[in-house]
Amino acid sequence: MIATTPEEIQKLREIGRIVARCLQMMKEAAKPGMSLLELDALAGEFLKAHGARSAPQVTYDFPGVTCLSIAPVVAHGIPNEQILKDGDLLNVDVSAEKDGFFGDTGGSFYVGTPDPEGERLLKATAEALQEAMKAAKAGAKLNKIGQRIESVADRYRFTIIENLGSHGVGKSLHEEPKFIAGFYDPDDKRVLKKGQVITIEPFLATKSCFVDEMPDGWSLIADEGGISAQFEHTLVITDGAPLVMTDPN
Ligand code: CO
Ligand code: CO
Repeated sequence: MIATTPEEIQKLREIGRIVARCLQMMKEAAKPGMSLLELDALAGEFLKAHGARSAPQVTYDFPGVTCLSIAPVVAHGIPNEQILKDGDLLNVDVSAEKDGFFGDTGGSFYVGTPDPEGERLLKATAEALQEAMKAAKAGAKLNKIGQRIESVADRYRFTIIENLGSHGVGKSLHEEPKFIAGFYDPDDKRVLKKGQVITIEPFLATKSCFVDEMPDGWSLIADEGGISAQFEHTLVITDGAPLVMTDPN
C-alpha cells in the first residue's frame, strides 16, 4: 500500500508495535526444554490480548500463529512438538493484522549458548538490514536494497538465500511490490515511492543460496545445509530515512 494519511501511518505503527513486542516477548520466553507449540501459544495469547490476528493464519491458513524455524530450516517453520535445545538457532517471524492493517517483523537468535560463527552471522544480518534501510528512500531504485544486502554479505563472506525476498505489506501480508531480491538484480527497474509500505528482510547464510520446501508443505530448508539468519522490519518510505513501523518502543 501507499500510506498517505497520518491515520494510516498511525494504524501501521499500532500493529507494528504489537508484532515487535510479541517478537521481543517470545525471544525472552524461548528456553531450552520448551516446545515450539508452547512458544507459539504465548504469541497467540499476546496477539489476542492486543486485538490482533495472526497474518499467516488469516491469509494462508498457516498451521500456527507465528513461523518458528530452527536452523537448517530458514523460514515458514511450523510450531510443532519439537523441543528447543541449548544452542538452537531459532528464527521467529511474527506478522499480524488489526483493523485491516498488517505488520511483519522477524528475528533470529540463539536459544541458550550461542555459537561464535553463528554470532558473526547474526551481526552481519543485522548490519545488512541497517545498510539496506539507508538505501530505501523515495525515488531510489528498489534493487539498491539487494545491492546493500549483498555488499554486507560479501564483506563477511556469507551467502544470501536468493529465493526469499522482502515485499510490500500494509493492507495485506504480501502485496506490491512483490519479491524484492536480497541480492543485486540489475534487471529490476522498479522505483520506490513515497508512502510505500515494504518490509526489508535479509536472509544471510553460511553455506546455502536457496531454500527447498519440505514435505510438510510449509517449512523452507537450506538446500546445502548450514545455518541462516533473518531480521525484518516493516517500513514506510519517505524522502529521507524510512519510518520503522515495527518498533517495540
Ligand atoms: Co515476516
Ligand atoms: Co515478510
